[in-house]
Amino acid sequence: MKENIKWTKLTDIKSFELKPQQLIKVKRDEILIIKDDTNFHALNNRCPHMGLSLNASECNMKDKTIHCKFHSSSFSYKSGEVNDWLNVKGFEKFMVWLYSKFDKDAKEMMSMKPAKAEVFKTKVEEEHVWVGIED
Ligand code: FES
Repeated sequence: MKENIKWTKLTDIKSFELKPQQLIKVKRDEILIIKDDTNFHALNNRCPHMGLSLNASECNMKDKTIHCKFHSSSFSYKSGEVNDWLNVKGFEKFMVWLYSKFDKDAKEMMSMKPAKAEVFKTKVEEEHVWVGIED
């Protein structure tokens, strides 16, 4: 089956030496580009949990994961697979428990089923990173 991917030229690969995580707008989407050892990875900036920004989240280059700071979920930045889901601990866990006592939405928010992050293909050409998004 032929893939229908539209490639978009993004930014100079040298810019990742100083800034290995960059947020780039492509049409309506915000794409987060992450450079690890030598590869570039692209994912939708919207966390699949509540749609909040993954930008400036901590990446674990050894496990190839990105950790959403809002409700402690982590995802493979290569495949989008869920590595950890709503794993809140300590004081944060207490606050979530407290909110859920009074707020039905907070309770629903913390009982959502795990969902993969959206990832995109990347390539390097002309010394630039490109992202491939299905049409
Ligand atoms: S918005 Fe990312 S885990 Fe909740």
